[in-house]
Amino acid sequence: MNIIIPATLNEKKDAMILLDQTLLPVEKKFIEVKELEDTWEAIKKLRVRGAPAIGVAAGFGIYLGVKDSRADNFEDFYREFMEAKKYLASSRPTAVNLFWALDRMENRLLREQERSIEEIKESLLEESERIFKEDQDMCKSISEYGLSLLKPEMGLLTHCNAGGIATSGYGTALGPMYLGHERGYNFKVYADETRPLLQGSRLTAWELNQVGVDVTVICDNMASIVMKEGKIDAILVGCDRVAANGDTANKIGTSGLAILAKEYKIPFYVLGPTSTIDMKARTGKDIDIEERGSKEIYNGFGRQTAPSEVKFYNPAFDVTDHKYITAIVTEKAILRPPFEDNLKKLFE
Ligand code: MRU
Repeated sequence: MNIIIPATLNEKKDAMILLDQTLLPVEKKFIEVKELEDTWEAIKKLRVRGAPAIGVAAGFGIYLGVKDSRADNFEDFYREFMEAKKYLASSRPTAVNLFWALDRMENRLLREQERSIEEIKESLLEESERIFKEDQDMCKSISEYGLSLLKPEMGLLTHCNAGGIATSGYGTALGPMYLGHERGYNFKVYADETRPLLQGSRLTAWELNQVGVDVTVICDNMASIVMKEGKIDAILVGCDRVAANGDTANKIGTSGLAILAKEYKIPFYVLGPTSTIDMKARTGKDIDIEERGSKEIYNGFGRQTAPSEVKFYNPAFDVTDHKYITAIVTEKAILRPPFEDNLKKLFE
């Protein structure tokens, strides 16, 4: 299957090529990003988005940000690197993959500190490419594990976009749908529109439709009725940060689906790589939730839909309590409750 890579380096490895996801589904345009400020802007504005893709873009972005440094000693180079790291880390707060990738780049740099600056730069390039490649491998594994939980002809519901364009491969929540499609499972997928930025209708529906997966878009407030009507056999969502007890931050609206799923006795699966698990966050309360501008609500797509003078509240994510989650599917294993114990074992 043809996968669209949302963030990669160009052949000369002096620029990042990003699919500008803000333009989809109308326009499929790739942009070239070189400067650190442009990487920051692309993450902030969701040109590149989805937790794993943000991590990959941060890895490439920080490499590009320091590759032309003129520092001639380790201390100066490290200082410049840390400034760039702090800056990129300020772009979005919730998806832990951003911080995970930046920490990984820093650790690599520190491991190479006895080498020349040019060699350190080479190692940073290699590390960023490794993050990208591992992301592809993790998608394959998550897709297989996820598919093992499903049966042909099932109706599946998903929220936001945890697909190919949120990762470097098949995606996480959409991975089993793609794999099932290749193997003739004939799933019926329902994609929540996902207000306010419509990642479900703009991106998930676009992606699945491109390869011929049967997809139906519903508005977010229609999730309950499709569950009640028996159209949904399983719910598959991605994640931006999983705490040590299994509480999971994902796109705003996810937690409501999980609560509904319990009422209708529908399994609720969270799919994501181990890089999205933050063992330093004890529970969901420790997860920083991004709040975005009000214009996304009252004038998201060129038309005013509410009086701009009223108050708005626009949290971009919410936390699903672990008690509503049937299983967390990672590239290493399918985890079942008790999540606190099983997550600990995974990292031991
Ligand atoms: O604000 P976004 O579009 O970056 O939010 C994305 C999500 O919530 C995804 O479900 C999550 O990052 C997982 S992507 C594999």
